[in-house]
Amino acid sequence: MNYVVWLVTAIHLLSVVIWVGGMAFLMLVLRSGLMAVEPTARVTLQGALFRRFFRTVWNVMPIAVISGLLLLILSYSHQPIPWPVMVMQTGGILMAAIFIGMFMVPNRRLQAKLASGTATAEDIVPVRRLVLLNLAIGTIILICVASL
Ligand code: HEM
Repeated sequence: MNYVVWLVTAIHLLSVVIWVGGMAFLMLVLRSGLMAVEPTARVTLQGALFRRFFRTVWNVMPIAVISGLLLLILSYSHQPIPWPVMVMQTGGILMAAIFIGMFMVPNRRLQAKLASGTATAEDIVPVRRLVLLNLAIGTIILICVASL
């Protein structure tokens, strides 16, 4: 492996670890951890944590996609692309599209309601579902990529 491929792979892996790992933390740890908090404060806290995490994803998501495309060029411009890499590129683009859609519609609605003090637990549901969907796609990608 040459140094450029090594470096780009490291950047790719770090960005997907932050993205997928952050979603796993939100879904597996934070949700149950917040059950101890009183319901109104829970919605406010979840909304604030989502806002912070989504800001991070806005930084790492383009890095994951660009480094992935760069790896495609560096490693597969002269040979056929294996199926796990096909799954990864399709899944990665799908995850990016789902994230942007989720950020623009249900998340904006949630943040506006939080700002006006009218947010309820119901407003969290569509955001959480789409994060869960992205976590599932990310997990499938990782399982497929493990066969490389
Ligand atoms: C547009 C999006 C993406 C593209 C084009 C892409 C492309 C690539 C390519 C070409 C490689 C190198 C494969 C090899 O060395 O044989 C790679 C490595 C890897 N990618 Fe992605 N990727 C994308 C998104 C993702 C996402 C979302 C994840 C995680 C959920 C991910 C996880 C990985 C992992 C774990 C490796 C290391 C595999 C290995 O070296 O054995 N990628 N990616």
